[in-house]
Amino acid sequence: MLPSFRKKKSINERMTATFGEDPLGINDLPFKTQPDYMRGKGGIWYWTGAMTAIAFFYQIVSGLILLLYYNPADAYASTETFLKTVPYGALILTTHLYGAYAMIVLIYIHLYRNYFTGAYKKPRQIQWVLGVILLALTVGVGYFGYSLTGDILSTDATDVGRGIAMLIPIIGKPLEEIGFGNGTSTGLFIRFLGWHIIFTALIGALFGLHFFLAENHNFKPAGYKTNYKAPAMVNDYNQHKPWYPYNFVYMIQLSFLTIGFIILIPSVLGLMSGVPALFSPFPQVSPTSPLAPYVPPYPPWFLLFLYKAIDFQIYGNVRFLLAISPLATSVLFGLIPLLYFIIVPFIDTSNELHPLARPKTTAFGILGIIYMIILSAWGALSPGIQIPYYDVALVLIPPFIIVMGGMLFLGRMYRNGTLKVTGDKLMVSTLVFIVILIAAVISLSYNFAGFLANSSALNFTGTLFSGGVTAFAAFGTAKSADYTVKMRTKEISNGNLKKPPIMSKKNATILGGILAFITLIIMGLSISVNPIYKGSLVFGIGLGISLLLASVVTRLYRMVAYDE
Ligand code: HEM
Repeated sequence: MLPSFRKKKSINERMTATFGEDPLGINDLPFKTQPDYMRGKGGIWYWTGAMTAIAFFYQIVSGLILLLYYNPADAYASTETFLKTVPYGALILTTHLYGAYAMIVLIYIHLYRNYFTGAYKKPRQIQWVLGVILLALTVGVGYFGYSLTGDILSTDATDVGRGIAMLIPIIGKPLEEIGFGNGTSTGLFIRFLGWHIIFTALIGALFGLHFFLAENHNFKPAGYKTNYKAPAMVNDYNQHKPWYPYNFVYMIQLSFLTIGFIILIPSVLGLMSGVPALFSPFPQVSPTSPLAPYVPPYPPWFLLFLYKAIDFQIYGNVRFLLAISPLATSVLFGLIPLLYFIIVPFIDTSNELHPLARPKTTAFGILGIIYMIILSAWGALSPGIQIPYYDVALVLIPPFIIVMGGMLFLGRMYRNGTLKVTGDKLMVSTLVFIVILIAAVISLSYNFAGFLANSSALNFTGTLFSGGVTAFAAFGTAKSADYTVKMRTKEISNGNLKKPPIMSKKNATILGGILAFITLIIMGLSISVNPIYKGSLVFGIGLGISLLLASVVTRLYRMVAYDE
């Protein structure tokens, strides 16, 4: 029995003793160091781009497997065969679809996080513009991918896309041929597969450049670090840690988390009944099926806002303009917002970063989100129904007045310092938010009941509006209550206080061990399931849960090994 005074080696020391200092040569990787607060509580907001990239890599791997089985000459049949006969086929196809959905949701979160924090300002203007192009390419690759299954929904989506292309003066016809092929079914799917792969390659190349610039400028530090002024560059390195192992292990944690959800969500939905066609992970019926006329003509949900805008009769009854109305509205609600995002670094050139110091820009951002939600919900509730211009005005003008008016008012208060945050003011704002929340919940239940009884545009607007206010008030209550507690405990004042660990290292090690054991059990059970069709989704549930648990175990490992 060895004498007890020998000092126990830590995990790191034992790893180094076994594998040497830097077995993979990761230490030399040229990635920039990042501060602790970017890996601490709330730090995930600094890595929205990284999570988008992780979803993108998942898409490449699952997409290459799909490519091996896809036959453009008989798109629907080859998709169905892959889905129902190839081992793990259903899991790969449905998670590829939801991987695309995850990438699109994450890219919008990434865009708006960088927009509201002013990350498009000097020196990151080019990085931002590259980002906007990445957004357009990602939505494009999603559209072509969505249309590759050959089901009735992809036919509808293709017809609308073709229709808009043809409306473009002069270049419409050639554009339609370049985009949609020689008019035959095989020609269409070969062309769509081509664009799907070309856009993916372009995303890969532009992301490389985008990430190079992210590393070159280093990540924008938290706003209070530069007193909310641009150029926002790192000025103190005291909390910074080397990329390996700190960021490397954090990226593994984020990968388990992102891919865990990409696999778990469609696996659960795939085994549920009654999932609406818009979110079903499975292709719908084929266009030749007798059931096809009963499937509502939905585009992919991430283009619902644009498809609904196409239903807007913005020219009233002016006959000769009605024909181009779909093109005009897709430019108004699609192209113009995209162009706005591209030029915003060159029109909002002040050195102000705080969202309240840029009230108009912030208001346009909030309106972008509100309009996208309103139009998407409208599109989901009434696909293909023409909307007269006065109903459009009735729905879109009130939010504009409220948001722009509200932001200009808050901006003025921020500029003249009356918005200085104090404990009492936060307390009052929490109470105000609670009152708004109660009123909003009452109005929401009233409007929703009205809408269920009679789905008129007015009831719909009321439900949506009060739903939006409820969400805003709930967020406001939670945030201001959180700040009130922090202000009371004086943590907010300097932001450098090291937060006490959530649990002791001993408990973290025990919990990590238990969760790792559970993960192994779940994986053991899942592997034994028959991997054909829905069986692979049962495996998918096991794998998804295991990855999410692995993400928690990695978090606990960071706590034990790196005090993070
Ligand atoms: C395929 C899509 C995209 C990927 C994979 C991606 C990836 C990344 C990554 C990995 C970073 C480093 C920081 C982070 O992890 O968040 C980053 C930073 C950044 N991205 Fe993206 N991005 C994408 C799209 C966009 C879009 C659509 C925009 C805006 C229009 C954008 C604007 C920015 C900006 C401004 C930064 C610097 C943020 C900072 O320094 O804090 N990106 N991006």
